[in-house]
Amino acid sequence: MVDGNGSLVVVGTGIRTVGHLTGDAIAWIKASEKVFYVIADLVAERVIKDLSPTAESLAVLYGEGKPRMETYHAMVDRILDSVRSGQRTCVVLYGHPGVFALPGHIAIERARDEGYTAMMLPSVSAEDCLIADLGIDPGLHGLQSYEATHFVLVRKRIDPTTPLVLWQIGSFGDVTYRREGAGNQKLPLLVARLLEEYPPDHVVTIYEAAIYVGTAPRIERLRLSKLVEARLTTASTLYIPAARKSRIDPATAAWLGFEPTER
Ligand SMILES: C[S@@+](CC[C@H](N)C(=O)[O-])C[C@H]1O[C@@H](n2cnc3c(N)ncnc32)[C@H](O)[C@@H]1O
Repeated sequence: MVDGNGSLVVVGTGIRTVGHLTGDAIAWIKASEKVFYVIADLVAERVIKDLSPTAESLAVLYGEGKPRMETYHAMVDRILDSVRSGQRTCVVLYGHPGVFALPGHIAIERARDEGYTAMMLPSVSAEDCLIADLGIDPGLHGLQSYEATHFVLVRKRIDPTTPLVLWQIGSFGDVTYRREGAGNQKLPLLVARLLEEYPPDHVVTIYEAAIYVGTAPRIERLRLSKLVEARLTTASTLYIPAARKSRIDPATAAWLGFEPTER
């Protein structure tokens, strides 16, 4: 049974809040009676507080070494309490609010199950910034994109003719929250898995999008075999270019009337 007019909208700040925050998101933050946020930098916090002075951070629910899933469920409980109390509730997450960000998805699903109106607005993710800064068009060769620990855990099958993005390499092998990331102790496992598919001298990129206007992204290229020595942070994403070209299937090309050349 639904009480009052509680509702939920989940929005993103983008990666560079000043510049990426959309007009839609600004309007929802201003119009909401209760605003929660989980964001990565102080400028973003200032922007949100200017739009909604009573906005409340849910980052306080993180605890050093506490399982991230436990924190996400605590966040969802806080969000749902607000919706159930009849408030127009807005949750602001950094980047795209639905990309590698479970609390928004879970809260929306629960709110809808309980009969409330709930929706998510899209925003700019780290992968969107990576595509722009590294000059990649997924339309050319496709794009594989996985969470690094999950990629190894399930032995995800990959295609070395397609570029690969691995998220959360700075937290590799750790399901708990650590402010400084997980360190590199377990990274040899990831590198060993990648060496099954790529040569040791394959050049990969550690990428960190700029979060402040006027600053440069971190784009560090190194050989795959050197990855275990790299400096990784909780904002690092790994980009692995294709190791070889795809081959056009001659029979299909002939049938379509295309030249059977490589792409
Ligand atoms: C919990 S996810 C959040 C992703 C975010 N919702 C988005 O839309 O990009 C955190 C991961 O996103 C990636 N990430 C976050 N900030 C980044 C940045 N400034 N540059 C590159 N990757 C970033 C990293 O892989 C990091 O481990």
